[in-house]
Amino acid sequence: MDIKENISLKAYNTFGIDAKASMFVEYDTEKGLQQLLESGLLHNNPFLVLGGGSNMVFANDYNGVIVHPANKGVITERECNTPCANDFNGYDCSALSEDKVLVEVAAGEVWSDFAWAMTRKGYYGLENLVEIPGSVGAAPVQNVGAYGVEAKDVIAYVAAYEIATGDKKIFTNKECKFGYRDSIFKNELKNKYIVVSVCFMLSKTANAKTNYSALSKVLSEKGIATPTPLHIAECIAEIRGEKLPNPKDVGSAGSFFKNPIVTHSQLEEIQQNYPDVVSYPAGDKYKLAAGWLIEKCGWKGRTLGNAGVYPKQALVLFNNGGCTGAEVVALANAIEADVESRFGVRLEKEAIIIN
Ligand code: EPU
Repeated sequence: MDIKENISLKAYNTFGIDAKASMFVEYDTEKGLQQLLESGLLHNNPFLVLGGGSNMVFANDYNGVIVHPANKGVITERECNTPCANDFNGYDCSALSEDKVLVEVAAGEVWSDFAWAMTRKGYYGLENLVEIPGSVGAAPVQNVGAYGVEAKDVIAYVAAYEIATGDKKIFTNKECKFGYRDSIFKNELKNKYIVVSVCFMLSKTANAKTNYSALSKVLSEKGIATPTPLHIAECIAEIRGEKLPNPKDVGSAGSFFKNPIVTHSQLEEIQQNYPDVVSYPAGDKYKLAAGWLIEKCGWKGRTLGNAGVYPKQALVLFNNGGCTGAEVVALANAIEADVESRFGVRLEKEAIIIN
């Protein structure tokens, strides 16, 4: 096991923040992860599992072990109408219909590469989720989502190692306790397991999710009535390209805040002063568009130090050149304070601040 010391994390976080880690370990096989767990290194030191680093802001140098999963590739792929042996970790797919296909992929794989690869094979399921930065292993942890689909809709199970014992456990979709940008791995099992692979249940027959208004608009403009997965993915890439920064050019962590959930009476109160507030029903509550709230507070396109609010999408904070994590946190706090004083709503960060 190769432990690097005192290395810059600039290339390992999409914000491009130049923080240092006192220790850094990477593995590219499941065996490598087992060896890391056997070594006890994670029992004696603070640690952080850093996938694509697309949702993290390093406010300071990290004094501990950065664990970087680099195990890649599809492990197994199988159509569900064939008898199931134990090569899917014992997952019982007998109840699944014949048009389903199960694909298990290593946690260190680049999420978008995998989503595009499945889409190009003609499988439905991941086409709305192309171009999301990050790794496959991080997807279930925060239940990534975009354009009407969330990872939870297509995850069959998650395989993960318990750090304390080194034992492997399979978490069924239900056991992952998925919520909006949330799962068991962010709550009761936080820092207790490391995801090694994720198994997706995709579909070979048409199963397109095109309700999201921006998506249905682009599809109809292109005259596509019965879209293939590739059609959808190409439209999504186009929509994202118009609103979101290209991670290759501009450092960011995607949506920096979650869209806040409010009660009906809170919404009514806001509507009294702001009848055009953007909201969507969410169960018996309402989800507000955080981007709208931030824009209304006048933050869209503004900078504070070297951190800025993206001019085309106020939910995204970005690196305006050499910004530090502390500058990002200062900007985020200023936005939160303004939104709270104007709307009485406390924004919650989607990005994780590492102190
Ligand atoms: N809006 C504004 N001003 C802005 C941005 C948005 O007024 O600057 C309003 C618009 O009215 C728009 C509405 O907010 O109609 C919703 O905006 P959008 O469709 O862009 O979605 P979002 O709520 O801002 C969420 C996800 C994104 C995901 C998009 C598309 C969260 C926190 N963010 O953003 O996820 O791509 O929907 O599904 O739920 C990410 O998590 O990194 C991410 C980019």
